[in-house]
Order: sequence, then C-alpha cells, then structure tokens
Amino acid sequence: MKVFITARLPEQVLARITRDHQVRRHTHDIPLERHKLLECVADVEGLLCTITDRIDRELLERAPRLKIIANNGVGFDHIDIEEASGKGIAVSNTPGVLTDATADLTFALILASARRVVEGDRLVRSGDFRFWAPLSFLGMEVTGKTLGIIGMGRIGQAVAKRAAGFNMKVIYWSRARLEPALEHTLQVSFSSFDDLLRQSDFVSLHVPLRPDTHHLIGGRELSMMKTTAFLINTARGPVVDEKTLVAALRSGTIRSAALDVYENEPELSDGLADLPNAVLLPHMGSATIETRTRMANMACENLLAGLAGNRPPNCINCHMLPQAESW
Ligand code: DGY
Repeated sequence: MKVFITARLPEQVLARITRDHQVRRHTHDIPLERHKLLECVADVEGLLCTITDRIDRELLERAPRLKIIANNGVGFDHIDIEEASGKGIAVSNTPGVLTDATADLTFALILASARRVVEGDRLVRSGDFRFWAPLSFLGMEVTGKTLGIIGMGRIGQAVAKRAAGFNMKVIYWSRARLEPALEHTLQVSFSSFDDLLRQSDFVSLHVPLRPDTHHLIGGRELSMMKTTAFLINTARGPVVDEKTLVAALRSGTIRSAALDVYENEPELSDGLADLPNAVLLPHMGSATIETRTRMANMACENLLAGLAGNRPPNCINCHMLPQAESW
C-alpha cells in the first residue's frame, strides 16, 4: 500500500514500513509546506504525521484512499477527529511512552526558572561573572514549596511523583478526580481551580488542548496567582493567553514563566523573547533519543495495523468507526 511519512524517523523504524509498503517521505526537519502535503496525500492509504501537520477537512478530502492516520505524538489537537471518523479513517497517537521525558523536562523548567539557571548561564558566557556575593542571583527554593498541577493525567501524575522527592506539597485540579487510593499513593490533594491558583508557588499545566482548555490561563487566572509564583507550560501553547502572560510578566503580576510550547508556535508573542523572567524552550518535552524512538515505533505499529485492516493498538477514534464492530 502507499504511505506518506511527513518527517524524518529513525532508520530502523522506517525499514519496518518500507519492507511491505510503498513509502514516500519528507526527509527534512522543517515541516513540509502545506500545498506539498496536500499533494503527497492524494493517493495514499496510510499517513504517518507529526504534531506540526494540520490534518483538517481540506486535507482529508484530498486523500480519498486514506485508512489510517498514525500520529507520531500524543497530542492530537492538530487532527480533525470528527471529520476523519466520518470518513472511516482510524486515527492513532503515542500515549504513555513520552510521560517520563515530559515530566523530567517539566521539572527541568521548574528548577531552571526558580534558580535562574538560564540567566546565570548568560551572565557567565557574557564574561560578566566577576564575583560571588551573598545577595546576588537569588532565586526561589523549590524544596518544600506548593506545586499546583492542572490536569492530572499520566504526565501530571509523573510530575507529582518527582515533586515528592523535593518534599513539595502537591495540589491538583483535573476534570476527573483521582481515586482516593491513588491520591494517597501520589501524596496529592484535589483542589478547586481557583484555590490552586491562589495557593501554588508553581502552577504546571498538563491538560490537552480542547475548546474548554483554550486560554484556560488568562488575565483573571494570572491575577489570582501569587506575585511570587511561576507558571510552567509543557502542554500546549494555546492553553495560555500568551499576550496577557507577557503583560503579567512585565508588570510583576507573577514572577516568572517557563514555556516549552507557544500559542502560535513557532512564533512568539511580541515582547516574550525580551523578558528576563521567562525561560523559553523549543517544544522539546519528549525530545530524548529513547522516547522519540519509542514514539516512532509506536506510530509505526499503529500504521501497520491500520494498513492491514486491523485495529491500531492506540486508536483514538475507533469507537466512532463503523469497522470497529469487527475489530
Ligand atoms: C506530543 O506528543 O503531543 C508532544 O507535544 C510532542 O512530543
């Protein structure tokens, strides 16, 4: 069958697909231009895509033979699931395998922003590190502080586990409350959304992007946070109203933000890059060799299953597909 792969993947993963299928692929890291993507899906049965490809109605209409969209990522806000389901196309993602890598990076951002790691690095490189002084480069201690986790799915829980090692008090807000036994194991307590904002020293976002989480953090929420608080976002950029965040960081409404994702990625809102109290990373939460290899393998399994007419192991929309009854 014909397959299009929109990004570079590990060679050993690629080999598993090329063995039995006719593969065309984009071989650069810079995302394929939209018009080329539209051309490349015209005659394929399988599409292995990434979070930078917009899979909308227009694209799906240009791909009449498509049976499976295997996303090389866990978030699927870039895919029109309803539309794909209506056309009988299975959509899959890569849950679980990037949990630890993303939780690790969340902690890297908590520590980097609280302890001013990036500012310190810049100072040393600029040649301006001339003396140690008792009151210079003071940051905030992480140990023992209150961490507010918004969204207590797999990644939120993995962040909570790491926070226990820093003796932090962890409160969380989520659409669904955890079972009491799990709350106990993780040493976390459920909080109302507003109380979490008021009480946390660090607010860390772990919700998927959906209509109800778009701009979940805006002016009202930022003004409820402590003036000494840190906002960490490794989820999706549009969960935060970025323009308002820039204003809040400028005016001292909150102390600092550490972001791995942006509202109009890869563009940054005006002024964000100039703020000394923002740590900015290029969407690298899952970027470890181990995790990216696991993600590609998982996407490949899903693709191959879908092409073979089987249920992809990590199918997002199978319950919406007519063929699901026979799977
Ligand atoms: C995802 O998988 O959704 C991440 O944002 C990229 O790994």
